[in-house]
Amino acid sequence: MKFLKRTHTCGELNASSGSAKVLLSGWVYKNRNHGGIHFLDLRDRYGITQIVIDENAPSELKETASRLKFEYCISVSGTVRKRPDNMINKDMSTGEIEISADDIIIHSSCDTLPFMVDGEAEAREELRLKYRYLDLRTERMQRNITIRHKTAFAVREYLNSRNFYEIETPTFIKTTPEGARDFIVPSRIYPGKAFALPQSPQIYKQLLMVSGFDKYFQIARCYRDEDARGDRQPEFTQIDIEMSFVDREDVLSLTEGMMNHVFEKTLSVKLPEAFRRLTYHQAMDLYGTDKPDLRYDLQMGDMTDLVKDSEFSVFKAAAESGGFVKFLNAKGCAGYSRKQITDLEETAKIYKAKGLAWMKVTESGIDGGISKFFKEMEKAIIERTCAQPGDLLLFAADNWKTACTSLGAVRSRLASDLGLIDRDRFEFVWIVDFPLFEWNEDENKWDPAHHMFSMPQAQFLDTMEKDPGPVKGDLYDLVLNGYEIASGSIRVHDPVIQKKIFSIVGFSEEEAMNKFGFLLDSFRFGPPPHGGIAPGLDRLVMLMCREPSIREVIAFPKNTAGLSPLDSSPSELSGIQMKELHIEFKLDEAEK
Ligand code: AMO
Ligand code: AMP
Repeated sequence: MKFLKRTHTCGELNASSGSAKVLLSGWVYKNRNHGGIHFLDLRDRYGITQIVIDENAPSELKETASRLKFEYCISVSGTVRKRPDNMINKDMSTGEIEISADDIIIHSSCDTLPFMVDGEAEAREELRLKYRYLDLRTERMQRNITIRHKTAFAVREYLNSRNFYEIETPTFIKTTPEGARDFIVPSRIYPGKAFALPQSPQIYKQLLMVSGFDKYFQIARCYRDEDARGDRQPEFTQIDIEMSFVDREDVLSLTEGMMNHVFEKTLSVKLPEAFRRLTYHQAMDLYGTDKPDLRYDLQMGDMTDLVKDSEFSVFKAAAESGGFVKFLNAKGCAGYSRKQITDLEETAKIYKAKGLAWMKVTESGIDGGISKFFKEMEKAIIERTCAQPGDLLLFAADNWKTACTSLGAVRSRLASDLGLIDRDRFEFVWIVDFPLFEWNEDENKWDPAHHMFSMPQAQFLDTMEKDPGPVKGDLYDLVLNGYEIASGSIRVHDPVIQKKIFSIVGFSEEEAMNKFGFLLDSFRFGPPPHGGIAPGLDRLVMLMCREPSIREVIAFPKNTAGLSPLDSSPSELSGIQMKELHIEFKLDEAEK
């Protein structure tokens, strides 16, 4: 058979195809010989079609079929026919037919595979990443990449329909204000100078607002030199959005509309038109995190007022020093052993808790742990915690943030131990009213909580410099199933406010001009009020695919050590390259 183009894909033919003459191309997925009859499963990205080489086929064809091994790339011509009734496979779109082959051409053979691509046994991740092109042949990865494509397409479709322009911004730039480390590209032409790769297109999208492109988006590659982990890659993708003449509500509702469109088009899932909202303070108070997983309820409560005068010195001391006593009712966990409770305590301690106090609730009241200190207020405790016999009450006493975050960690640990998480749900929540500044204990200074161009809420403008701690910003995060999937803000476009922010975070005017002077300069030329948001495409698709890591939805990711097992990058540079770039690596003995 000379090379002919395929007439159909491997996912296309079915009972309505009659007895067409067809030519299919793909990879040998399965190959079995039943009493002289050869069955091949031919796979491409559209599906699998069964090919049959009958017993009475020409001997040359039978000989070719017998030479086929896993993942040979072939074309098959033949005739569609209905399968015998007892061989119909209702689970496959092509399960009612097969192709009776009359010719096979082998395009290329395939060596012994480092792992099977039928997904039946999962290979080690390092091996999967080294042979990523093979891993991408698996059904799981084909599905994930498909969902990623459909998501990006639906994003473009939605934003285009709302009059947004897709505009590219440079990837060799000066520096970005996102606060991670930059990746650096040394300049050959300008010795001693270097470009930075963008941590996000933040400054450029703001410049585009100054230019009058009042609705901008870009599916943008971002680079941050930080440790890779499940939901982080050094190189990742944002759906970057910016709009002029808008307030927070406009940005939030546009994002809700976009998520609705994406989920509908990609997964046929209908989301609520508007997402729930929590303030940062509420999220921390109730769930102990600013990215709460709301697929389960399990809220924390406060009992500082009840126990502040108790005989339990830990609680008393916490309350007296302005701290809080937070509680969590672990429903039905009274049967927990000491070991199980100690495990929970260890979880709390990772988040700086000094301990995790507990008591059980039985038919006859509170029991065990610290219950002996609280017999007199037993009724009030049971009422406050809505406890019932069989419940386990857990307590953290500390400053507000530590009490919340440590008990919050216990909350998520319990949810997974108790199987409370409904994996089929998508629970979105907006977190709003974040503090604009965060106290940096190590450096004894205020840091911007998001980045330096986010707007303080109007009521704090006058007091901001005197008292930065309470200032809330026009900042918002979108959280899905416990992951921060988007972040944004209304921006500062007034140079006077901008200067105040720089001075609060200890950025000298000179430093600000040196780093972001071109943005500040542009604000002299009629900048519009503007704001935006950037959903992380990888995290969004990871959750849509119900995958545990963003590596599963990126075609060629880095591993957890930030390396690429596929091309062995990063790699050494040649002497000539170093010379041209005027650079030299100085490694100490341990680094060599
Ligand atoms: P931020 O830094 O919060 O905001 O990033 C926005 C979103 O990008 C995703 N993300 C990441 N995904 C994978 N790997 C990473 N290393 C990584 N870092 C961030 C997250 C996050 O919510 N310029 C601002 C946005 C704005 O204000 O408009 C920004 O970059 O999902
Ligand atoms: P102790 O009096 O140190 O034996 O502590 C009694 C119980 O209180 C133990 O279960 C500790 O884990 C717990 N505990 C100690 N410090 C705290 C704290 N700050 N918050 C909550 N529980 C604590």
